[in-house]
Amino acid sequence: MKYAVRFKASVVTLMAIVMATPFVFAADLSQDQVARYILATAKAFRSVYGRDIVEEAKRGGVKPAENWKENEHAIMLPAQFIKAAGAEIKDFELSLIGLTPIYKSNLPKTKAEADALKKLAAQPDLKVITFADGDQFKGLSADFAIAQGCADCHNAHPSSPRKNFKKGDLMGAVVVRLHK
Ligand code: HEC
Repeated sequence: MKYAVRFKASVVTLMAIVMATPFVFAADLSQDQVARYILATAKAFRSVYGRDIVEEAKRGGVKPAENWKENEHAIMLPAQFIKAAGAEIKDFELSLIGLTPIYKSNLPKTKAEADALKKLAAQPDLKVITFADGDQFKGLSADFAIAQGCADCHNAHPSSPRKNFKKGDLMGAVVVRLHK
C-alpha cells in the first residue's frame, strides 16, 4: 500500500505549509488573531480529514486506527493527524490536550491551560479561548464529542482514565502555543 503511505505524508505536509502561512504577515497581526487563525485552520483540516477522507477511505476498506503504521488497511486517527502536523511545525506548538487524556503526554502543560479547559467545558458557547501564559501566548479551541463514536472509543481505550464520555461532552482542545 505504498500509495497510502505517500498520500498520508503529503496531506500532513500540505497542512503544515498552510498552517505556517499566517507568519508571512505576522507583523500586522496581534498574537490573538494569529492564534485564532491557526486554530481555525487546524480545525478545518481536522474536520475534512475526519469527515471526508476517513469516510472515503472506509469505502475502500481502509479504517482509521491508532496502530495504523502496522496495518496496511488503516490510516491515522484524526487526533494523530493533528499531532503529526504539529510535530512538523518548528515555529510554534500545535497539539491536542485534555483533562482526562488517553495519554499523560496530552495533559495540559500549565495550570492556566487546565483552567482554560475547565472554562471551555463550563461555557460550551465560548469555543475558543486565548491568553498569555508565562513567556507564551496560547489559544485553545474546544473539541467536543460530535459523534457517539468519539466517546465510545475513548471510553473503551485501556489507557483512558475516564470511561463515561458521552456525545456532546468536551473531550479536550486543540492547543496552539506561540512564543511571545
Ligand atoms: C478509534 C478511537 C478514537 C476515536 C473514534 C476518537 N479518538 Fe480521540 N483519541 C484517540 C487516541 C488513541 C488518542 C491519543 C492519541 C495520541 O496522543 O497519540 C486520542 C486523543 C484525543 C484527544 C487528546 C486528549 C486525549 O484524550 O488524549 C482529544 C481531545 C480527542 N482525542 C478527541 C476526540 C474527538 C472529539 C473525537 C471524535 C470526533 C475522537 N477523539 C475520536 C482515539 C480515538
